[in-house]
Amino acid sequence: MITTRQSGIRLARRLDEVGFSDIVQIRNKVMAMRAEGLPVYSLHGGEPFFETPDEIKFAAVRALVENRTHYAPSSGIPPLREALADKLAAKNKIQVTVDEVIATVGGSQALYGAFQSVLDPGDDCLVFSPYWTPIRDLVTGAEARPLLVPSITARRNGIRNTLEQFATPRTRAVYYNTPQNPSGLVFTRAEAEEVAAFALERDLIVIADEAYEDLVYDGGHFSIASLPGMAERTIACYTFSKTYGMTGWRGGYAAAKEPFMTALRKIVLYSTNGVPTFVQHAMLQALTTPESRIAAQCEEYRKRRDLLVAGLNEVGLECDPPAGAFYAFPNAEKIHKNSLTAAQILLEKAHIATIPGSVFGAQGEGHLRFGYAIPLEEIEKCVEALRKFFR
Ligand SMILES: Cc1ncc(COP(=O)(O)O)c(C=O)c1O
Repeated sequence: MITTRQSGIRLARRLDEVGFSDIVQIRNKVMAMRAEGLPVYSLHGGEPFFETPDEIKFAAVRALVENRTHYAPSSGIPPLREALADKLAAKNKIQVTVDEVIATVGGSQALYGAFQSVLDPGDDCLVFSPYWTPIRDLVTGAEARPLLVPSITARRNGIRNTLEQFATPRTRAVYYNTPQNPSGLVFTRAEAEEVAAFALERDLIVIADEAYEDLVYDGGHFSIASLPGMAERTIACYTFSKTYGMTGWRGGYAAAKEPFMTALRKIVLYSTNGVPTFVQHAMLQALTTPESRIAAQCEEYRKRRDLLVAGLNEVGLECDPPAGAFYAFPNAEKIHKNSLTAAQILLEKAHIATIPGSVFGAQGEGHLRFGYAIPLEEIEKCVEALRKFFR
């Protein structure tokens, strides 16, 4: 019998379901328009409007000049881990030892490590939706299945009831992002308590993504791992990217107890063997930033939010003011029912670059994400362009 053998030149199957970026089409179009000399209002990004503060840059330069360019402990230099444990205790009310915190290459590596540490092939993971696009791929990359839980429905019908409705016997974890990208939704303490009660009852792990913890306009940020019994079953993931304007530095960290910390250590060791040593010194410096400065930055974002949200509502793109993060997520069906088409129309006709809501999951369809972490003048110009477009 003749059997056909599959070529060896093929990808490992676990990558079959992992997507790349659906946002590329829009980004390519933006670049092509710019190359033609056309103005484009950049509301498609997610980077702070300010540069990395000088003292953070100088800390990195100092570290380089002092030859802190050698291997460091792969989980992070001890003073950084101490400072992170202090920060988690003071700000997030999460009590961890220095061995229960690990420096990672951005929040992304923390999240990658978290999903890899928890999910087995065939497991299910509850994901509040719309969700930050890479999350689906992080779940499928662990050969697990994302179960999308509509955040709005959950809020309306009760978080716990809704989670129960979507959970399966194979459910092993909940991805819990607050403040949320793209919707700006901020879960309250009472909602965190419901998620925690559900996780405790079902013996689930929570992967908490607190990338935007310092960007909350209404109410405060609350860390789910601070609730009784939750530190043991939560992997809390953080980044330096948003709070300190450090997107390109790739600094992040995770807090977790055993057995998850051992898993995270292995994943960091065998993927990057740690965060570049001089970047860790910059991270250490960043942690000394006064809370007053972080709060002042948040006020700057609030001005941008208010300006943009008023402009969107004025032209009929209905949008409640987001409670956190730096994105507005209005309904855009007035432009086109299909959000990818709506984004293309807005880009071509009004030169406003946004992200189609469909890339954030089915619950994002009909919406566009406008990132407002840009200069105020740019938002003013965008609002003017919107007025012209709808005139
Ligand atoms: C919700 C959310 N989590 C995590 C991250 C990770 O950020 P980074 O890898 O830059 O630390 C981002 C970045 O946009 C995000 O939006």
